Amino acid sequence: MCGIVGFTGRSQAAPVLLDGLKHLEYRGYDSAGIAVQKDGAIAMTKTSGKVDALIDKVRATGGMPGVSGIGHTRWATHGVPNDVNAHPHMSQDGRFAVVHNGIIENFAELRKELEAEGVAFQSETDTEVIVQLLGSYYEGDIKQALLRTVSRLEGSYAVGVLSADVPGTLYAARAASPLIIGIGAGENFFASDITALVSHTKNVIDMDDGEIAEITPDRITVFDHAGRAVKKEERHVTWDVASAEKNGYDHFMLKEIMEQPAALKATIEPRIKGGCVCFEELGLDMKNYDSILITACGSAYHAGVVGRYLIRKLCRIPAEAEVASELRYGDPVIGERTLVIVVSQSGETADTIAAMKKCREAGATVLAIVNVVGSTIAKLADAVLYTWAGPEIAVATTKGYTTQIAVLYMLAAYIAKHLGLLQNEAALTDTLQALPRRIQQAIDMNPSIPALARKYHASKALFFIGRNTDYAVALEGALKMKEISYLHSEAYAAGELKHGTIALIEEHQPVIALCCNASIMEKTLSNIVEVKSRGAEVLALTFRSNRQIVSVADDLLFIPPVDPLFSAVIEIVPLQLLAYHVARENGCDIDKPKNLAKSVTVE
Ligand code: AGP
Repeated sequence: MCGIVGFTGRSQAAPVLLDGLKHLEYRGYDSAGIAVQKDGAIAMTKTSGKVDALIDKVRATGGMPGVSGIGHTRWATHGVPNDVNAHPHMSQDGRFAVVHNGIIENFAELRKELEAEGVAFQSETDTEVIVQLLGSYYEGDIKQALLRTVSRLEGSYAVGVLSADVPGTLYAARAASPLIIGIGAGENFFASDITALVSHTKNVIDMDDGEIAEITPDRITVFDHAGRAVKKEERHVTWDVASAEKNGYDHFMLKEIMEQPAALKATIEPRIKGGCVCFEELGLDMKNYDSILITACGSAYHAGVVGRYLIRKLCRIPAEAEVASELRYGDPVIGERTLVIVVSQSGETADTIAAMKKCREAGATVLAIVNVVGSTIAKLADAVLYTWAGPEIAVATTKGYTTQIAVLYMLAAYIAKHLGLLQNEAALTDTLQALPRRIQQAIDMNPSIPALARKYHASKALFFIGRNTDYAVALEGALKMKEISYLHSEAYAAGELKHGTIALIEEHQPVIALCCNASIMEKTLSNIVEVKSRGAEVLALTFRSNRQIVSVADDLLFIPPVDPLFSAVIEIVPLQLLAYHVARENGCDIDKPKNLAKSVTVE
């Protein structure tokens, strides 16, 4: 949550910072601000609201001239989202401005200490202790003052510092929050992630926990916690500028839904060779494990639930899926023979990181399925499988989720093969390679979605039902609907309806029934009949050829014929589009839903 950006060079800083913040806005969007250094002083503009409001305010103040600066877009933790609590925050003497992503857990105690020394705080934020500490420790050497400051902080931070005294020099520090340095020609940057920088540079340095950096237009020096210079590797990023732009679509979410065939192709193709699933990058012997635990948050957890069904089915190994926020405080029965699979698009989700650390301490091996290269989860894991989905900007994940499922499909097949349980691998890889085409068909065969959205958008609630993998997809369908359209949506295992939820079914209550698994179709059909006889309006998601369901449902969404083992990745696509169009009907801010942020780096 929160995005930070910094620039130092020879051109004006404000336009670069504002453009960077626009690209980071998915990380938080309740207030924003920039600070620019000029003629030995720091100018600052901040506002509640989105980055567009900041752009207007900066323009009104004359554009804020200066060639170095820092910026921030906020997802409030400590203090309401108003102008005062917006970042940057300034030290009492006006010598330093700081932007911060993360949470300072011991801020109350530090604030008390500083107040006792006479510091008058301006905001309610935890961040302000960082800049006030820096101001109080500064005796002419910023690097030393910053090292001393960060040594006092508990919690997580990616921090950017601008000083009035040293023109053109930025400082940055990192602990458990993402931070990269961008390398330009005669200009350098820092940012929470590459999307803010990709139009300027694709060459980056990943900062590690405990490091600080001194950044000038021509030099980048990274130091460890003791102030010793550290040699850092440069990394070239392959994401292109276009992939972080809307490219004519009204919303990033729609663009990312439409990108799914290409994204899945990029995930699957390099891993299939000569009719075999190859995970050359894996480096784990699957015979070393006799149980699998999948952990993640939100949609990534839902992908994990799909993976659990498949691993059980193909590999005949005990497999569980548990949300990371529960696992981190639970007592999982795991050990050296447990393979823990963590799933995360961003690779920065705080609960997932905590859960994976707990599992490693218990002796388990952690395999991460991650989209963002160089992310914290990718670095901490014993092995990594990247999803190669490209940048995902919309807060509601779409291609991030489907590519996670694609990796889990291939992983299940790979494990089954290593356990000697996989039959007809060539047919299976044909099915996997056809998935991108099937997704395109699922997009093309449902032109009625905007009309269905008009019919259902004003409903009081929506219930999604299904069994087995249909149920796993129902969980994700309901989450997609609620997070972007604010329509109350819940998913139920269809067989559970009669154990309580059916009491909520009344005349015209919409029920979205997922019926894509022939072996249990009859059972879901019975549930459809049960809710219909109590007045429900049923929108069924199924195959066109499924006459029984087609004849009983009020409305229909279709997927093309596909092996039910692998249908989940197709089923979700019409549901993503339905959520998108319902949100449009409801006039919602689709790419930046209220109260949410893309990367949940706080607990
Ligand atoms: C889904 O649309 C969400 N925005 C959210 O549930 C997300 O999947 C979750 O926060 C996990 O994020 P991650 O994949 O980056 O770890």
